[in-house]
Amino acid sequence: MANIHAFHRVITAFLIINTVNAFNALLDVPTWCGKPYMDTTQSLDPGGQFQFPTPQKGPLLSVTIQPRYSIFLESDGSGDFIVDAVISHLFGQPFSNVAGGNSSSDGETTQSATLDFEIHNGEDGALLVSSSVHVNSARNLFNFSLSSFSPRFEPYPISIKGTVSSGQQNYTGTTQIYVLPSRSYGSAVKIDNVYGGLYVQNAFNKWKGWYAIFPNGYYADGGYVTPSNISFTNLDTYAAQGFNSINIVPDGGRPDQSYPTAELATYWDHMDDINLFNIYDMRFTFQNATRVEEEVARWKNRTTLLMWYTANEPDGWSYPLNSTSIAYTQLRTLDPYHPVSLVLNCQNYYYASYASGADIIFQDAYPVAINATYSIKWNTPCNTTYGDCGCDNCVGELTDVSSRLDDFQKYQENIPSSSGGHGGKKPTWSVLQAFGEQDYWKAIPTAKEVENMMMLSVNHGAKGISYWEYPSTNEVNVGSGALGKVFQEELAIGFLLGADPIKGLNVEGGGQEMADASAWVVGERVLVGVANGKHEDSETTVSVSMPRDMNVSSVKVLYGEMGWRVDDGKLVKRGMRRLEVSVLVLT
Ligand SMILES: *[C@@H]1O[C@H](CO)[C@@H](O)[C@H](O)[C@H]1NC(C)=O
Ligand SMILES: *[C@@H]1O[C@H](CO)[C@@H](O)[C@H](O)[C@H]1NC(C)=O
Ligand SMILES: *[C@@H]1O[C@H](CO)[C@@H](O)[C@H](O)[C@H]1NC(C)=O
Ligand SMILES: *[C@@H]1O[C@H](CO)[C@@H](O)[C@H](O)[C@H]1NC(C)=O
Ligand SMILES: *[C@@H]1O[C@H](CO)[C@@H](O)[C@H](O)[C@H]1NC(C)=O
Ligand SMILES: *[C@@H]1O[C@H](CO)[C@@H](O)[C@H](O)[C@H]1NC(C)=O
Ligand SMILES: *[C@@H]1O[C@H](CO)[C@@H](O)[C@H](O)[C@H]1NC(C)=O
Ligand SMILES: *[C@@H]1O[C@H](CO)[C@@H](O)[C@H](O)[C@H]1NC(C)=O
Ligand SMILES: *[C@@H]1O[C@H](CO)[C@@H](O)[C@H](O)[C@H]1NC(C)=O
Ligand SMILES: *[C@@H]1O[C@H](CO)[C@@H](O)[C@H](O)[C@H]1NC(C)=O
Repeated sequence: MANIHAFHRVITAFLIINTVNAFNALLDVPTWCGKPYMDTTQSLDPGGQFQFPTPQKGPLLSVTIQPRYSIFLESDGSGDFIVDAVISHLFGQPFSNVAGGNSSSDGETTQSATLDFEIHNGEDGALLVSSSVHVNSARNLFNFSLSSFSPRFEPYPISIKGTVSSGQQNYTGTTQIYVLPSRSYGSAVKIDNVYGGLYVQNAFNKWKGWYAIFPNGYYADGGYVTPSNISFTNLDTYAAQGFNSINIVPDGGRPDQSYPTAELATYWDHMDDINLFNIYDMRFTFQNATRVEEEVARWKNRTTLLMWYTANEPDGWSYPLNSTSIAYTQLRTLDPYHPVSLVLNCQNYYYASYASGADIIFQDAYPVAINATYSIKWNTPCNTTYGDCGCDNCVGELTDVSSRLDDFQKYQENIPSSSGGHGGKKPTWSVLQAFGEQDYWKAIPTAKEVENMMMLSVNHGAKGISYWEYPSTNEVNVGSGALGKVFQEELAIGFLLGADPIKGLNVEGGGQEMADASAWVVGERVLVGVANGKHEDSETTVSVSMPRDMNVSSVKVLYGEMGWRVDDGKLVKRGMRRLEVSVLVLT
């Protein structure tokens, strides 16, 4: 809760007094994102800015291997590896294409160069795949049988070794795969390492195969949705509004800052009945290994457990840099069936350290009704070395949300893998502002603003959405549920989890800043998401260009205003309402 979080900011200094200080600020200086924020303190470089790798002059070849999914189950029968062999100036081993003779200045090579490779089980040496890929190709999929792996909780090491045709150099990479015992109770949740979506099996589909899920749900006030006198009324209303996931926030006011176990079990039975997924929140306990073990043992068999959620804004609080990864390692061991998530609040503060402790990274930039340059709460300026304005390094526009997703994705893709290749992606989610009239936030966002931030998030690759905090206003509750339902429907989810968004489609008639538009191409069809950035209605005709010169002729509106048509291969509409959002499928 925002005011709990503000309260904790004040006492942080006392809490960390006995720990080793890895940060730039002195221990007795209260900070947020490493910046002093009280008018009695001085500005200071917070440190922790993301270090992008230095480009090398000569081209490198980055050969990496990943499992298609974060986990496999014995019942899957087979799995896929993702093999990338990408020319890079950042990651990999030196590359000179002796055979083809052409590696031009930007490393583009002749089409003919191939990498011949073998993939082995690093434990018993068994050969799993022997094949080849084009140099400078990514996301090549190679299937393999799971039958040679005995299902177990520990991962198996996997290695790849390749040679470029008639080249001398060997390229190597490693990964690990989980091959877990099949399920007949509880849930299993896997991440698709190509597109970032989540897939589940649980009681709902009787553990037969996997179904896609686009989670959309709030952090919820437990006193409201799970009152101690046991009433399902508010929880049922919540589910009926269209939400398929929830994070019931543990009560920081209780002596052990945790959940009343018997009550939560009663509510969770009901959530199991209606297949409402829980993101189990360990914000107050994840730094205590004993409590993590107890909580996992208690809840890991729940059929609607979606994922573990550990640190809540660890970067804001300057929690120890290793705190998230310590909890992550423990959770992997205790329960490999579920992903681990956390939320980061700072724009650029020790991203790599904190993000190393989760599979899914949430961002929670809250830009509505703030003053981005002057702290309403603390009466100081805010900039990159000082102050807390409630949204770190923000400009105070709805697009702070999409910029933050872009930032996190860019950082993540620039972290090298343990074997030196490009580190790859992690799914990103948004936590959106659905609160206000407190601290830094003068007003509660309108439903239009929240829906616009939802669309901006999805357009910029968010694979799930959460909000702080339920209940919001009735119009925000209803609007975020209604638009979220569209993302969950089979038609949209096939695009959202089946392709990468092509961001920043060209929008004419009002300029690029007028509307943010992305497209997902699957086969002959395109999903388009449009978020109008203007706060006033306009009568101008807007036209959105299709990616890759897709030849589209008809449009179906899944959400938003009617009036869209296809004209000369472009998506066209006369006039846009302020902050209008559209989800469209073109054929
Ligand atoms: C290599 O590529 C460059 C740039 O595309 C081209 O100008 C040059 O002719 C090529 N050389 C060979 C040997 O193919
Ligand atoms: C890989 O896929 C091909 C084509 O679907 C299939 O014939 C083959 O049996 C699969 N191999 C394994 C190991 O599953
Ligand atoms: C590449 O690997 C092969 C087979 O393991 C080995 O014989 C050769 O010496 C390696 N080459 C280099 C340059 O390391
Ligand atoms: C539970 O308590 C709330 C107020 O605290 C009340 O509104 C509600 O009617 C009560 N429900 C039941 C089932 O007693
Ligand atoms: C961790 O939790 C256990 C079990 O609740 C408790 O006994 C212990 O004091 C906690 N440790 C710390 C450092 O808070
Ligand atoms: C969870 O399932 C495992 C395996 O069946 C069992 O050993 C364990 O006792 C169960 N835990 C709970 C809390 O039900
Ligand atoms: C984590 O970091 C702290 C310093 O903040 C250090 O004291 C501790 O030993 C580290 N723990 C582990 C397991 O590395
Ligand atoms: C932010 O606060 C400063 C100082 O009070 C003021 O000059 C400025 O207009 C405010 N900006 C916004 C967007 O409210
Ligand atoms: C941030 O504001 C403080 C207080 O006005 C000032 O001392 C500091 O130089 C500013 N930092 C930057 C990077 O502008
Ligand atoms: C687009 O499709 C239509 C109908 O199939 C066809 O007549 C037209 O030639 C196509 N245009 C392009 C540029 O492919």
